[in-house]
Amino acid sequence: MLDNKRILLIVAGGIAAVKIPDLIRRLRERGASVRCIITKSGAQFVTPLTLAALSGDKVYQDLFSLTDESDMGHIRLSREADILLVAPATADIMAKMAMGQADDLATTALLATDKPVMIAPSMNVMMWTHPATQANLITLKNRAVRVIGPGVGDLACGEVGDGRMAEVPDILAALSQFFQKRQGQGALSGFHAIVTSGPTHEPIDAVRYIANRSSGKQGHAVATALAELGASVTLISGPTHEPDPDGVTVQHVETAAQMMKAAREALPAQIVVCAAAVADWKVDSTPGKKLKKGATPPSLSLSENPDILATLSQAGPQRPALVVGFAAETDNLIENAQLKRAAKNCDWIVANDVSPGSGAFGGDSNTVHLVTAAGVESWPTLRKRAVAERLAERIAAFAERNL
Ligand code: CTP
Repeated sequence: MLDNKRILLIVAGGIAAVKIPDLIRRLRERGASVRCIITKSGAQFVTPLTLAALSGDKVYQDLFSLTDESDMGHIRLSREADILLVAPATADIMAKMAMGQADDLATTALLATDKPVMIAPSMNVMMWTHPATQANLITLKNRAVRVIGPGVGDLACGEVGDGRMAEVPDILAALSQFFQKRQGQGALSGFHAIVTSGPTHEPIDAVRYIANRSSGKQGHAVATALAELGASVTLISGPTHEPDPDGVTVQHVETAAQMMKAAREALPAQIVVCAAAVADWKVDSTPGKKLKKGATPPSLSLSENPDILATLSQAGPQRPALVVGFAAETDNLIENAQLKRAAKNCDWIVANDVSPGSGAFGGDSNTVHLVTAAGVESWPTLRKRAVAERLAERIAAFAERNL
């Protein structure tokens, strides 16, 4: 799994840095290439020369070094990797990451990267359990930073407890698992999932349409997360500004009727997630030209659009084993979501508050409740990507038990 993988290893200043030479050796044995950035305090524990000798590459240290920058600019350094691994991740570097601080090469690379980030925390037990560190940890997890460890044990400071950096074999296993999921050998490998996302546009005339504020961010993130767990994903997207996710088949549609048709044609599937904010109504007759302003404004006659979620949830041989809907509500969130689940005959509902102050429509975070036959589970406010990953993990657990 680690063969040909490019790891950007960021070594911060903790005693566990002494384990890093062994980590580099094991990574290279498995075919990975390792490039190191070491912080000033990291260099107090392990020498850059050792890391350079073991990684077979230059070790980068200084943000303002002319030679480093001309050899490889810090932005390129942060992008030419498959994953960034911070080990050991000290309380200090975690705090800087959570704050978005960028005052040295390591933190600048972490802020500038568009690649996944994994951290292996290592610190004294009191520092680890301190509310400040725990709050930073939550912030990082919400940004989809993967966390490995720490374990319990004797700490270098003489105390015993949580805070010991994960052992080298555990770090290797976490990295392998990460790449395994990405290569489609994950828990949802072999399953087909259909995801709807974004708004629909219902034409009024040749130039005007009815729409809503959905950005498609949550639906696209769900498609990405399912694909990362190995599912083959068909994403049916209304008009959005979101890029097509990697490794996902995307069908672009405009109207609810087109979304319905594309969803039917994408069947069979074991999993469906309807995250689109489908327009409830369409305009009955739409002239092929632009309506001109007259003495009185035109009145629009509307009729109801097909309900994609309810249609796909209908019992029958084509019914996917797990149908998940979203419920966008401004009042009585849980109660309405439970009613929607029953009315549409779907299995789960992800209920989210879309009232004006919530920031859910168009924003990057979501506060959701998972409504199932077993009850209601309230999740903390999370980045939409983290909501998607958590939902995908739940779907994978369902698939493991039932499919
Ligand atoms: N949905 C759908 N097709 C529609 C309307 C909604 O597939 N024509 C799906 C959405 O993708 C979502 C769920 O149904 O998964 C609930 O959507 P929501 O907008 O919250 O509710 P509505 O059914 O439209 O009801 P209301 O607007 O009255 O709340």
